Amino acid sequence: MATKTFDLSDLYSEASIDTEIRVPKHAKYDFATAQPDPSSIPLKGLTDALASMLEKQGTDLAYYPDARGIPELRELIAGKLERDDGFKVSPDNIAVVNGSAEANFLVIKALINPGDTVIMEHYVYSGTLAQFRKVGADVVGTPMDDDSIIPEKLEALIERLTAEGRKPKVLYTIPEFQNPTGSTLPTERRKAILDICHRHHMALIEDECYTDLRYEGETQESFRSLDDSGIVTYVGSFSKILAPGLRLGYFVADDELLRRALSFRHTGTNHLTSLAVYEYLNREMYEHIDHINGLNRPKRDAALSSLGENFGGTGTTWTSPKGSLYLWVTFPEHVNATELMPIAFEAGVGFNSGASFAPNGDGDHCARICFGYETPEKVRDGIALLAEVMDREGSFKVSPGA
Ligand SMILES: Cc1ncc(COP(=O)(O)O)c(C=O)c1O
Repeated sequence: MATKTFDLSDLYSEASIDTEIRVPKHAKYDFATAQPDPSSIPLKGLTDALASMLEKQGTDLAYYPDARGIPELRELIAGKLERDDGFKVSPDNIAVVNGSAEANFLVIKALINPGDTVIMEHYVYSGTLAQFRKVGADVVGTPMDDDSIIPEKLEALIERLTAEGRKPKVLYTIPEFQNPTGSTLPTERRKAILDICHRHHMALIEDECYTDLRYEGETQESFRSLDDSGIVTYVGSFSKILAPGLRLGYFVADDELLRRALSFRHTGTNHLTSLAVYEYLNREMYEHIDHINGLNRPKRDAALSSLGENFGGTGTTWTSPKGSLYLWVTFPEHVNATELMPIAFEAGVGFNSGASFAPNGDGDHCARICFGYETPEKVRDGIALLAEVMDREGSFKVSPGA
C-alpha cells in the first residue's frame, strides 16, 4: 500500500462518522441474524428466470433504470399487496430499492429532522433504530406485551412526551412477527393505534418484511389496508422470502412522500436482479413461500423444545412466535447477555443481546435467537451449547443478596 501523504482530516463532512465497517462474522451455530435457510434459495429457479428475461429484454440493461425499479416488478408487488395485504395500490406508488433497509431510511429521511421525536416498539429492529439515530431523532420505545404495542400505553406516552415539548412525529412498527420479539399486533389494536396516530397527527411506518413467514394462526389486517388516508407508509422486502443478498425491498407511499423519499436516492435499482426476482416470483412465489415456511416451522419447534430442555427451571422465559425466523429470550435480570455475547461466540454460538434492540437503553438480560439459518438439529444443539456456556459462566447462579 502506498504511504499516505495527504491529510484529509480537516476536509471530512460534519455528517460523516468514522465508523467501523461491519464485516459479518458467522459462528458455528449462527443465531445472530434473521437469515433464511441457505438451502431454500431457489438458485436454479432464479437462474432460469434471469435467462428467460435476458432473452426477452436484456438489451434494456443499456438504460439507466427508473429510480422506482422495473415496472413488471412493481406490478407484481401491487398484485401481491392486493391479494395478501388487502389493499389496492398503483404501481406508480411503489418504489423498489436496495432492501427494506433502504426503503426505511429513505422514508425516515423524508420525515425526520434532527431532534424530532419518534416512537418505536420497546424492543425493535436494531437496523431501523440505528437509522433513526443517524438522522438525529429522539427515539423512545413504547411498552409492549405478548400482543406487541399496548395502545393505551402508547397514547399515555405520546401525551407525556407532548407535555415535555417532545411531541412525537412518527410511529415505526413491525406489526407481523415483530423483530425481535416475534409478536403480532391484533387487528383491533391496529385500529386503536391508527386512531391515536390520527388524533396526535403522527405518521405511521409499517414494516412488514416478515408477513409472509406465517406457519400458524391468522395474518392480521395490515395498517395500510385499514387506512388509505396517507398516514401509513408500507415497507416490504424480498430478503426474507428469497435472500438478503439480492438487496431488493420496497415501500408504498402517497405521491409526495414517495417523491420526497426518492429525492435522497441518486441511483436506480439493480435491473438484472430485478428481472430475475420478478420472473421467478411470477412463476412460483406462493409455492416457494409454502416451501420456506415448511422448512422454518421445525426449526422454531426445535428452538422451543431445546429451550425447554436446557433453560427450563433457570428463570428464563421465551416467546413462541407463530412464524418468522427468531424468538426472544428473557434471562433472569442479573444475567448480562451483552457481556456473554463474545464468550458464546468464541464457544461457537452467535446471537444478539437485547441491548441492541432497545431504544430506551435496557435489554442486557435479553437475547434474540434467530433459528432460520441453521438446520433443526443445529438449532437444538446450538441452544444446548449456549446453556452450557452460560452455566459455565455462572449465569444461573444468583449472587448472594441479589
Ligand atoms: C424489521 C426489519 N426491517 C428491515 C430489515 C432490513 O432488511 P432488508 O434490507 O434485507 O430488506 C430487517 C432485516 O432484518 C428487519 O428485520
